[in-house]
Amino acid sequence: MIDLRSDTVTRPTEEMRRAMYDAEVGDDVHGEDPTVNELQNMAAEITGKESALLVSSGTMGNLVSLLTLTNRGEEIILGDQCHVYAWEGAGVPIFGGVSLNVVKNEENGTLNLDEVSNSINPVDDHKPTTSVVSIENTHNQCGGHPIDEEYIRNLKILCDEKKLKIHMDGARLFNAATALNTDVSNLTKYLDTVTFCLSKGLSCPVGSVICGSKDIILEAKRWRKAIGGGMRQAGVFAAAGIVALNNMVDRLAEDHENAKKIGNGLADIDGIEIDVDYIKTNIIRFSLKDKSFDMNKFKNGLLDNGVMISPSGGTVRMVTHREISHDDVGLVIRAVSKSIQEL
Ligand SMILES: Cc1ncc(COP(=O)(O)O)c(C=O)c1O
Repeated sequence: MIDLRSDTVTRPTEEMRRAMYDAEVGDDVHGEDPTVNELQNMAAEITGKESALLVSSGTMGNLVSLLTLTNRGEEIILGDQCHVYAWEGAGVPIFGGVSLNVVKNEENGTLNLDEVSNSINPVDDHKPTTSVVSIENTHNQCGGHPIDEEYIRNLKILCDEKKLKIHMDGARLFNAATALNTDVSNLTKYLDTVTFCLSKGLSCPVGSVICGSKDIILEAKRWRKAIGGGMRQAGVFAAAGIVALNNMVDRLAEDHENAKKIGNGLADIDGIEIDVDYIKTNIIRFSLKDKSFDMNKFKNGLLDNGVMISPSGGTVRMVTHREISHDDVGLVIRAVSKSIQEL
């Protein structure tokens, strides 16, 4: 089976499994797990921040970051297509008593800065105080687009002027840095908090890391505990994270190449609507030209031909990752072509 539903389906490598078995561990709630501490130090250094905190998932990373940056009764500006708003069960409003002010995402995943500026509430007893802007990089629902340093710098200028903080959901931060051919720290230096996932393209079984200043991470640790996210011998999976940061980042370019090749192949198939230029990282989005075709039938047809996808609404998302080889690229294109003919 060629599983293109997400890069979260990647399983830990042999090296990760060995590192997990051998990991030196302690009680991380007491800060005594040396492997967790090593991973957190690495993450802080890579992102150019003072400190870092391991959490169980990307969702928990976003939730803890945003609880840390806000107070009850405040408001966050974020995009209508972003994961925090669309796919995280309203955790931030539920647990933080914080409202979400939704701005339309541009096609490239950014937020129009004039719209952000116009969405900031005036000082008024009727209005929640706007305190944070949250962005996503790469932007999952916006075709996996990477957001560059210049945009983030301009957002920072606006946020400094308006006294707002910035959080970035960098679930695929390393994909963004790879696509933009830049250091991760260039994409994170203007942020108050950033989270990245170990369990997506980096192939770990579990884990995300929040990075920020010492004070912010101390506060984030309190929130992590409050929501039940304090873990004990977490070094068992932090060990896989260390392998990921050392050895799995450089290979992400391969996933991006494979995504582009799949996109180019799909563009040659009659019946597929795709903008190949829109593919910048490991995410491919396309739709069927004939809107009367049944998307579920297409999905099941592909399944019969050995390919798993995740349609959402009228579009299909395919995500390349470590377990998709160069040879799989041709198989995927042929499977799509066959499944379209069978519709
Ligand atoms: C952009 C983005 N942010 C956050 C998450 C949440 O990560 P997790 O599934 O580890 O909670 C995802 C998951 O796919 C994602 O794509």
